[in-house]
Amino acid sequence: MSVATTAAGSAADATAADPTAQPGAYDRADWASAFRNVGLELDDVPLTAARGTIPAELQGTLYRNGPGRLERGGQWVHHPFDGDGMITALRFEGGQATLRNRFVRTEGWQAEEQAGRFVYRGVFGTQKPGGPLANAFDLRLKNIANTHVVRLGDQLLALWEAAEPHALDPDTLETRGLSRLDGLLKPGEAFSAHPRFDPGHHGARRMVTFGVKAGPRSTIRLMEFAAGDGPDGVKAGDLLCERRDSFKGFAFLHDFAITPNWAVFLQNAIDFNPLPYVLGQQGAAQCLKSRPGGMGQFWLIPRESGAFAGQEPQILPAPEGFVFHHLNAFEQADGTVVLESIVYSDFPSIGPGTDFREVDFERIPEGLLERFTLDPVAGSVSRERLSERTCEFAMVNPHRVGLEARHAWMAVAERATGNDPLQALIRRDLQTGEVREWSAAPRGFVSEPVMVPRPGGTSEHDGWLLCVVWNGARCSSDLVILDAASMEQVAVVELPLAIPHGLHGSFVEG
Ligand SMILES: [Fe+2]
Repeated sequence: MSVATTAAGSAADATAADPTAQPGAYDRADWASAFRNVGLELDDVPLTAARGTIPAELQGTLYRNGPGRLERGGQWVHHPFDGDGMITALRFEGGQATLRNRFVRTEGWQAEEQAGRFVYRGVFGTQKPGGPLANAFDLRLKNIANTHVVRLGDQLLALWEAAEPHALDPDTLETRGLSRLDGLLKPGEAFSAHPRFDPGHHGARRMVTFGVKAGPRSTIRLMEFAAGDGPDGVKAGDLLCERRDSFKGFAFLHDFAITPNWAVFLQNAIDFNPLPYVLGQQGAAQCLKSRPGGMGQFWLIPRESGAFAGQEPQILPAPEGFVFHHLNAFEQADGTVVLESIVYSDFPSIGPGTDFREVDFERIPEGLLERFTLDPVAGSVSRERLSERTCEFAMVNPHRVGLEARHAWMAVAERATGNDPLQALIRRDLQTGEVREWSAAPRGFVSEPVMVPRPGGTSEHDGWLLCVVWNGARCSSDLVILDAASMEQVAVVELPLAIPHGLHGSFVEG
């Protein structure tokens, strides 16, 4: 178990990856042991490092979101993405740390806690007990608030892309309720789980995000919020600008990227046939299918504060492939836009009969880091693969969002090629291709790493990388703190909480 011994948590160049690592050199039972219910809600439990030292300069809170309830009344969710959102807050101050966690008190969570069984259908295929007849024509969406958590103004927002956010108290994690952002959102209006924080391309820091109304024509609502209080009475959370653009076709947009002048979307070639959903046979997301021979599109929407404000979007052809997440985007001096994304060869659809704990990684496409160069004037797109190694959950230094970044941090599979669970973390030098690595293999499984810049740091990779790691040997979770530059292990904190494989999170300074 690598994270249980300091020797295994080592930094290395990827070119020197362990040559003895065999395909599938992990125990599936270790990976699957993370799929469980969270049975505890802890209150500011003090933590101590089992190895290393928590840096005194690390000041703030790491918030994580992910499915925390995967079974009710003996019935398992069909897919972990149907699990109720559970927020973990890890607070750091003066070399000390505490942990608090809370389920988001959504309407669905409360109803199902009381009933002791599923009373809603899940988007990813979880059905209510009673078969198709009990599920047909029940089109209520269960807003499970399980995808991401960000701070906006005086509240935390637990995000789920198909409906409104839930507002939480940032200190206690108490659920305040569904938030329509002071009437900005209509009841049930989609609000992306992937906001981007503009570090200050147009003055102060902003949260840029979107909502999609999908149909035969789809509309993207692009919104920019003040991330902090500013001059002229601007308050954190205020809407600064918005625009709506409609495009032909069904839009499935999980993520996007920003530059100073553009919001960049990749519309995958996906069709939606709602009939099996309406008839109670499948979840809504199971009705998404790749369009055979279909091509996607890049949509470049001008930001309202940028040089192209008020202009029409630019539409460019996208190569084959499917993207959930982008790393970053930036503009070059010649006006071209570079977009770095994690690309799958096809949409990894969710079969109706598959037990997610027994998924065959060899048979599903892996995510690979690619770079697209978009030329809005010529209408052309070029594509370059940056690595053959399975990866997900990538980010740049938060100060480089929308700008060319030298470094990227991401979760990767242990072996150099082929699809496996994510077990290692890397820093990739995007200019030279050099890779520094820390691995939790063979018994550890990583989640999304969050890069936290060192206060007052002068280089882009100066800071820490924080990651919640599933420790298969302990059947519990560890917090791992790495030096973001060297990828050497700084501290491992064995958490008193078993957190299932999670989704997204963010770090809030202070
Ligand atoms: Fe995501």
